Amino acid sequence: MCGIVGYIGTKTALPILLQGLRRLEYRGYDSAGVAIFDGARMQRTRAVGKIDQLSNAMGKSNWAGSSGIAHTRWATHGGVTEANAHPHIACSDDLVIVHNGIIENYRELKEKLGPAHRWTSETDTEVLAHLIESHYTGDLTRAVQTALSHVRGTYGLVAMHAQNPHTLIAARMGSPLVIGIGEGEHYVASDATPMLAYTKKVVFLADGEIAEIKRENVLIMNMKHEPVKKYVEEIDWDEAQAEKQGFPDFMLKEIFDQPSVFEDAIRGRIDVEQGTAHLGGINMTEDQMRAIDRVLFIACGTARHAGIIAKYAFERLVGIPAEVDVASEFRYRDPVLNEKTLVFGISQSGETADTLAALREARRKGALVRGIVNVVGSTIARETDGGTYIHAGPELAVASTKAFTNMVAIMLLYAIQFARLRRMTISTGIKLLNALKEVPRQMEHILEQNDCIKTYAEKYALYKNMLFLGRGINYPVALEGSLKLKEISYIHSEAFPGGEMKHGPIALISPDFPVVCVMTQNQLYDKMRSNVEEIRARGAHIILIATEGDAAARELADDVICVPETHELLEPLLNTIPLQLFAYHSAVVLGRDVDRPRNLAKSVTVE
Ligand code: AGP
Repeated sequence: MCGIVGYIGTKTALPILLQGLRRLEYRGYDSAGVAIFDGARMQRTRAVGKIDQLSNAMGKSNWAGSSGIAHTRWATHGGVTEANAHPHIACSDDLVIVHNGIIENYRELKEKLGPAHRWTSETDTEVLAHLIESHYTGDLTRAVQTALSHVRGTYGLVAMHAQNPHTLIAARMGSPLVIGIGEGEHYVASDATPMLAYTKKVVFLADGEIAEIKRENVLIMNMKHEPVKKYVEEIDWDEAQAEKQGFPDFMLKEIFDQPSVFEDAIRGRIDVEQGTAHLGGINMTEDQMRAIDRVLFIACGTARHAGIIAKYAFERLVGIPAEVDVASEFRYRDPVLNEKTLVFGISQSGETADTLAALREARRKGALVRGIVNVVGSTIARETDGGTYIHAGPELAVASTKAFTNMVAIMLLYAIQFARLRRMTISTGIKLLNALKEVPRQMEHILEQNDCIKTYAEKYALYKNMLFLGRGINYPVALEGSLKLKEISYIHSEAFPGGEMKHGPIALISPDFPVVCVMTQNQLYDKMRSNVEEIRARGAHIILIATEGDAAARELADDVICVPETHELLEPLLNTIPLQLFAYHSAVVLGRDVDRPRNLAKSVTVE
């Protein structure tokens, strides 16, 4: 939710920290701040707004220090003000901390600390700073450990003290922290992106761990001060990959990334000869996979839409019951689970608090839990008993696009792998895999229509409301198209199954309520076509997603976007792309910040 960067080494810290914040702005960007030990004292500047505002606030100050911490904020406690921006200090300004997470008992802690303390903000983080200071007697690690023993909640925090400026203390509970391993220098951040320019060797802190980070070494302990053995991992993203590569923004780059990252998702995981898939990360024997009698997909937002597609695929191919749950609902209902229930947690960031909590609940209730995740070493990836990385590369735009299609790809491979252990024939498996291998080329073909889709977006951008309709496998496509539009253009939109219109929503239809209909050639084509005709009869403007060669489509709709034909279960991989582009161009026309839409964060690490 917020972005943290820390550096300690021999270089000047300031430019590294500011550039690192820019890499993390997608995590939250309503205010930012930096603190550096300049050789004599702790210097600190904060500003409301994005990193450019912080740079401006710093003016000519170019502190020469080589150790410091910085933070970009997405407000959870207290408004968007400079006083609430991090880094926070306590009574003296020797101690500075940055924090990502929520201290649930901060009010009680504040009361216990008492009125003697000088409070300058409304944040829970400031309470943490005072709590640490109240336990500081010269050893910052011990002070942080003692303070955190009184804390309930989540944190990824980095602290430093002017009396020992050559050590950063990092601690993690519920909010990710990654340590970058350099030569005579070390980095710490909320994810690996800010350090890729300097090192790809990283160590992921786990919950309950604390690190003393110095120039020459890093000591990782648990909260009882006992050393913990950790492994250095190698990130396979280079910084170029995380750049925009010539696109105006990350979102458009990531939409166009889809053909290549889709190939990354299936590469080495399909066995066309045997008509099956090999996803070793599932950590289950073939007998264990055969014994599964129910599958549950748990996720939020776009990831949940991928889960709905997975549900269709598992029911159709594997022939077992499959359900999809909103993570934030799952954890508070009374799910019936057992050792034959397989739960997939689907998450791009691997840090979504609702999904993580739901998976912990599912495991507590005896289900087998696996993760379908993009970010290597993320909490969900490490806490589940296996799973698969979707290999979508860094997805920096808040609106998820390439991660969605790669999640769908991986879930389809799982459905094939499970189905071939049961009733699916080799020829069916071969047909599906050959169709999957066609998808990147077909995606490229759709992306070539970018300019045409842009004209449609320009035509409809001033409408205040839109409806998205789909049936069967294209209902989650409609849901995803609607979410994309609303979250980046701020146009209100809703999605319904086509058959649901007559039960109420059709009352909305009028000439100023355009409707996007996914009407591709599949088993529900005729039903969907009737829905389109009902809407047309009431004068709505219609945008159709139709299969290439469908002559009738042009008579039904004002604007038609054609997609290649594919196996019905693979349609979402293609049909979603025009809707991503439609949402993107609508937002651009309206002058929105497409990579960082208002009120949203890339990784929602709080409930
Ligand atoms: C997607 O466009 C949204 N930004 C949001 O719904 C997102 O999919 C959701 O928060 C889940 O995130 P995750 O995949 O990282 O768990």
